[in-house]
Amino acid sequence: MRLAALALALVLALLGHASARAAPMTIAPALPPPEVPVDESLFPPGPEREFILDTCQGCHTLNLVARSGGSIEGWSDRLVRMIRAGAPIPREQIPALAAYLAKAFPERPRLQAPTRPRSGE
Ligand code: HEC
Repeated sequence: MRLAALALALVLALLGHASARAAPMTIAPALPPPEVPVDESLFPPGPEREFILDTCQGCHTLNLVARSGGSIEGWSDRLVRMIRAGAPIPREQIPALAAYLAKAFPERPRLQAPTRPRSGE
């Protein structure tokens, strides 16, 4: 039956496509996954802003940065880890960058705190 042959060819094509891209759950995505646009206004004005907008998107989106929070010390540790990951951050800039980030994205309670009850939102 021609229809069956066509269907088989289609399945094989899709399987080949999927395995080539190693994404078995997204055989034929209708749209690319929506990347939530970064709200750059979350990054307050300051001499460090430009550097962060330029540098911190090299490996991940700024959403990762804006979603995080921490003390100056926490941000310093993170920046050191970013340097280890290969980020071009001059070490002497760490204190200023950490202070900026701690002010813009301070420590806050963890979102996934298991004790917080879900009130009807
Ligand atoms: C060379 C690549 C690279 C650059 C450039 C980079 N990062 Fe990262 N970043 C990573 C990797 C890899 C991870 C995930 C692994 C991890 O958390 O160490 C990450 C995760 C993060 C996280 C979330 C996880 C955590 O550790 O809290 C934050 C926040 C972050 N980066 C901030 C920054 C900031 C701020 C900058 C710019 C100053 C930056 N990154 C630049 C590689 C990079």
